[in-house]
Amino acid sequence: MSDASSYLAAVRGSYDTVADTYAGVVPPPSALDPLSRALLDAFAEETAATGGPVADVGCGPGKVTAYLTRAGVDAFGIDLSPRMVALARRAHPELAFAVGSMTALPVPDAALAGLLAYYSTHHMPPELLPAVYAEFRRVLAPGGRLMLAGHVGEDDGEGECRHHTEAYGGLPVSYDSHFLPPGRIVRLLEEAGFVVTARLTQEPAPGQKRRYGTFLAVSP
Ligand SMILES: C[S@@+](CC[C@H](N)C(=O)[O-])C[C@H]1O[C@@H](n2cnc3c(N)ncnc32)[C@H](O)[C@@H]1O
Repeated sequence: MSDASSYLAAVRGSYDTVADTYAGVVPPPSALDPLSRALLDAFAEETAATGGPVADVGCGPGKVTAYLTRAGVDAFGIDLSPRMVALARRAHPELAFAVGSMTALPVPDAALAGLLAYYSTHHMPPELLPAVYAEFRRVLAPGGRLMLAGHVGEDDGEGECRHHTEAYGGLPVSYDSHFLPPGRIVRLLEEAGFVVTARLTQEPAPGQKRRYGTFLAVSP
């Protein structure tokens, strides 16, 4: 996926810049709204029951990876940003974290019982999502579970793309965020061969601007 390289460099550099601040401000999953937490708990319960490793892709500082582990999941983290991975290792030295990209995961074929991408796929240019979802399928064992969560666009719209030059209190970044209609995400997952078992959109919480969506799928 060499066409992704300039996008990846910009996202990597941006998250390296904001990593320390991000780790300080992002709340742990235990502070999520009850519905979002319940979805994460459902994914954890199902993947803990089947056993086998679960990758938290785009794990950032590892708070969600640690939450899954406490729920009995054999979880490890992967992130594009070396600084995020360093912070995750420092906060959770008992867990495994690796630098890597969702475009070419450092994971053998069919190795995973589950894959979580929690607010980490929205910087991906939509035209590259089919290859990313194919990569998610490659690493999941038959019956493996996928959970995607992140901000989404309106149901009937074209989606929206925002370019960001600063984030997390004015730190300099350079990346796009893509907010796709939920139905388009479902279609792309199905085209990649996933069976989508659940989708939920939540309207913006008080004080937030964007609606968000969660998608659960199985790799047959
Ligand atoms: C908004 S943060 C979310 C972090 C974490 N999942 C959480 O919920 O706190 C997005 C993360 O995705 C990572 N990321 C972005 N593009 C990625 C890619 N292509 N492969 C792996 N990680 C990526 C970023 O480095 C960043 O740590």
